[in-house]
Amino acid sequence: MRSSIFLKRVSLRNYKSIASCDVRLSPLTYLVGANGSGKSNFLDALHLVRDALSGSLDNAMNERGGLSEVRRRSRGHPTHFGIRLEFELPTGEPGHYAFTVGAVPSGYEVQREECCIGGIGKGPFFELERGRIIKSSETAFPAVTADRLALVSASGLSAFRPVYDALIAMGFYNLNPKVIRELQKPQDGRLLKPSGENISSVIGHLARTNPTSKQVIEDYLHAVVPMVHGVERETVGPMESLSFKQDMAGDKNPWRFLAQNMSDGTLRALGILTALFQGNSDHSPSLIGIEEPETALHPAASAALREALERASERTQVIVTSHSPDLLDDMKIEPESLLVVAAEEGVTRIVPLGKGSREVMRQHLCSAGELLRLNQLNPDPVSPDTPALKQAELFGEPR
Ligand SMILES: Nc1ncnc2c1ncn2[C@@H]1O[C@H](COP(=O)(O)OP(=O)(O)OP(=O)(O)O)[C@@H](O)[C@H]1O
Ligand SMILES: [Mg+2]
Repeated sequence: MRSSIFLKRVSLRNYKSIASCDVRLSPLTYLVGANGSGKSNFLDALHLVRDALSGSLDNAMNERGGLSEVRRRSRGHPTHFGIRLEFELPTGEPGHYAFTVGAVPSGYEVQREECCIGGIGKGPFFELERGRIIKSSETAFPAVTADRLALVSASGLSAFRPVYDALIAMGFYNLNPKVIRELQKPQDGRLLKPSGENISSVIGHLARTNPTSKQVIEDYLHAVVPMVHGVERETVGPMESLSFKQDMAGDKNPWRFLAQNMSDGTLRALGILTALFQGNSDHSPSLIGIEEPETALHPAASAALREALERASERTQVIVTSHSPDLLDDMKIEPESLLVVAAEEGVTRIVPLGKGSREVMRQHLCSAGELLRLNQLNPDPVSPDTPALKQAELFGEPR
């Protein structure tokens, strides 16, 4: 079976608190670290790529407060930030996409951008500098400007379309029970939105196009909240909501409750499960990033949640941020699936587990959760991740 990995490796430079990071991702990756260490910043860098490609770079930057908030703030005042993603397309072809964005008097520009599929010189590629094409496999490259990502225009060419489609199919989630509880406008239910603002439409869409996945969501929801037996999209005047089947003492048949009356934990769990098992054979996410899936859940629900994450990651790559020893309390979690996020003097390091912690886990002396409880999930003291890595390494062939 093909691995679900879409992003094999992510390198970042000067993205928010991350001066430099270069990490390999697993089918299921847990980003673990203290509050404010930079876990969300890592996911946000990937989210920015999605936003900048599916909307515009301008919007993606403005939503985050502009370049001055996105690039790392520090004494040395880095003037740019950079992102490199090494991926594998659903066809199995490897490639990479990288760009740097830097300050100019009028705001910012894309200093350099590179996309390459199947190896430089072997497959489709382009290389741009400040809105000018330097090299490309294509004879007729569309017009580009320095204030936009060229991959958006290049997606008009069939050679680059698969990269574009896969990058905009990444979904990032910070589920909000308040948003899920509100009446929602009927809308496109193919991809769940970040806070769950279209979850009723997504559940309705799943009921029509992929009832098996909807059943999986309902089964896990039942494991997390045993009295809940199912969930449906329900029309409420011109709006819609979710209706839950729930046990009621003294009644054989379950009662129906609208989202408005359901608990925070139930709604959040449904959001996470929907993020994980959404999609169908025509349309499914390429990668799912979830913020703190354990929030609002009882520790006893952790095993079901972990199993759901693992099961979903067999089909779609999953990245989660977590502080939960309960979620990580399983000997089966491989040390490779954990990345330690730590901040020293405001600078984030994201690195694999150190040898000591890896050995303890391999020998089944402690689970990752127990190590986290003991504050012993540590990186190696010396790591390949040093801020001295040069910007140039974001570009060119994989090293
Ligand atoms: N442009 C920037 N330059 C430098 N540091 C930044 C920048 N933007 C945000 N930060 C820092 O990033 C930190 C927050 O990181 P982030 O939100 O990723 O933490 P987290 O690990 O997700 O924490 P939590 O577990 O509390 O959610 C803050 O300390 C903030 O000061
Ligand atoms: Mg966070």
